[in-house]
Amino acid sequence: MTLLEVQSLSKRFGGVTAVDACSLSLDLGSITGLIGPNGSGKTTVFNLITGFLAKDAGDVRFKGQSIAGFGPNRIYGLGIGRTFQLARIFPRLTALENMLVPVRRSGFRALVSRGQWNDERSRAMDMLAAMDIASVAGLLGGSLSYGQRKLLELAAVMMAQPQLVLLDEPAGGVNPALIERIGEHIRELNRQGVTFLLVEHNMPFVMGLCQKIVVLHRGAVLAEGTPADVRGNAAVLDAYLGS
Ligand SMILES: Nc1ncnc2c1ncn2[C@@H]1O[C@H](COP(=O)(O)OP(=O)(O)OP(=O)(O)O)[C@@H](O)[C@H]1O
Ligand SMILES: [Mg+2]
Repeated sequence: MTLLEVQSLSKRFGGVTAVDACSLSLDLGSITGLIGPNGSGKTTVFNLITGFLAKDAGDVRFKGQSIAGFGPNRIYGLGIGRTFQLARIFPRLTALENMLVPVRRSGFRALVSRGQWNDERSRAMDMLAAMDIASVAGLLGGSLSYGQRKLLELAAVMMAQPQLVLLDEPAGGVNPALIERIGEHIRELNRQGVTFLLVEHNMPFVMGLCQKIVVLHRGAVLAEGTPADVRGNAAVLDAYLGS
């Protein structure tokens, strides 16, 4: 079953066509990689799917329903979470407080009035523990390492129990030991039923994690297939060497 379908999506910034009639589909329960040289449009595709940018043309369908034109909060509410290329966490809030911000956004008052705040707190602690960062729960976001921030951001996204999560360079700037662990956490969440689309420049990481890889070049899909297909594709190699 197809969970998300991107159909001929396009986005221009002035004279630059950042995304050019891009189509891709994500199977329910899959991990798909979106790769391509710098500036090939990967983050823009994420921004279009998640409602942070408005498309010029095309459509995005989630569970068969068009979500193009919806705002970020509405799309988040439908069950599509995302992380950012530079982890967006609140530096002056503790890791635990960072976990509870999305809860607050989606009905803090309602939760408190129903006395569910403690439940949310313990759910947040469980999620931090699942990501192996329970020990930093009381530390300020700004004091965490780059890799810990990435894990915290992922943990915070998971608080909303999304069905689909878009990860923009989850391993970017992270030390090799922590990259392994981030990969394990993605795999474990995927086993629990979460579908992933991930952008990543670390090829061993993305090839090891994904069943399907989509290669973007100048905003368009250049190739698509299994990691082995993509690795052996001459046009893909040219695109990377040419950029
Ligand atoms: N808000 C914006 N305004 C103007 N141009 C933009 C904007 N966002 C992206 N672009 C341009 O669109 C193109 C695609 O950028 P995008 O950030 O999507 O690439 P990317 O594949 O994520 O690159 P990287 O691997 O470096 O993160 C680039 O030419 C970029 O300069
Ligand atoms: Mg990017």
